[in-house]
Amino acid sequence: TTDKRIEDIKKIIRDYQDFPKPGVLFRDVFPVVKDPSCFKKLTDLLVEHINSLPEKVDVIVGLESRGFIFGPIIAQALNIGFVPVRKAGKLPGELIQVEYSLEYGKDKFEIQKDAVTEGQKVVVVDDLLATGGTMKAACQLMDKVKAKVLDCLVVIELTDLNGRQKVPYQMSSLIKY
Ligand code: PRP
Ligand code: ADE
Repeated sequence: TTDKRIEDIKKIIRDYQDFPKPGVLFRDVFPVVKDPSCFKKLTDLLVEHINSLPEKVDVIVGLESRGFIFGPIIAQALNIGFVPVRKAGKLPGELIQVEYSLEYGKDKFEIQKDAVTEGQKVVVVDDLLATGGTMKAACQLMDKVKAKVLDCLVVIELTDLNGRQKVPYQMSSLIKY
């Protein structure tokens, strides 16, 4: 029995064939954000999921760019902080870096060394899991700062690409294609 809210959200996610490269079926989550009642349903579901975890979360970690849409609003609802993982060259100060590949390219992620401290319990948030390269890289950064990853959480999972096999921690998704 799927939550009616999940069906409502799924209906307004738009598909684009061959974007940004031939062979990729792009799932666009922005129409959900444009519709305030749908966006509220989505953020409520994400917050309910995090509240159902057996341990209390200290920090929400969001992945640039689309993890920045969902991460802060969830963190605020939970009354905890939000920390960004950014593409290389965007964050100031002392950084930790990791290279990764994703469904349609390669990139580098960075986090500030002191943004998450040893032993803090985090949930890593992004919009979508495809090949899992992006989420795996975020987990490697969490290992380097010695954070405890309670859950990796995405709105959309593209199950055909088996991305969750690459993710070393608990992997959760609301909507599966
Ligand atoms: C997209 C998406 C995920 C990632 C998933 O980000 O938002 O972060 O790809 O792909 P993967 O599971 O194959 O690694 P993208 O790098 O396109 O950047 P954006 O969020 O800045 O649009
Ligand atoms: N990021 C990686 N693969 C994607 C896809 N198929 N749709 C939207 N975002 C993505």
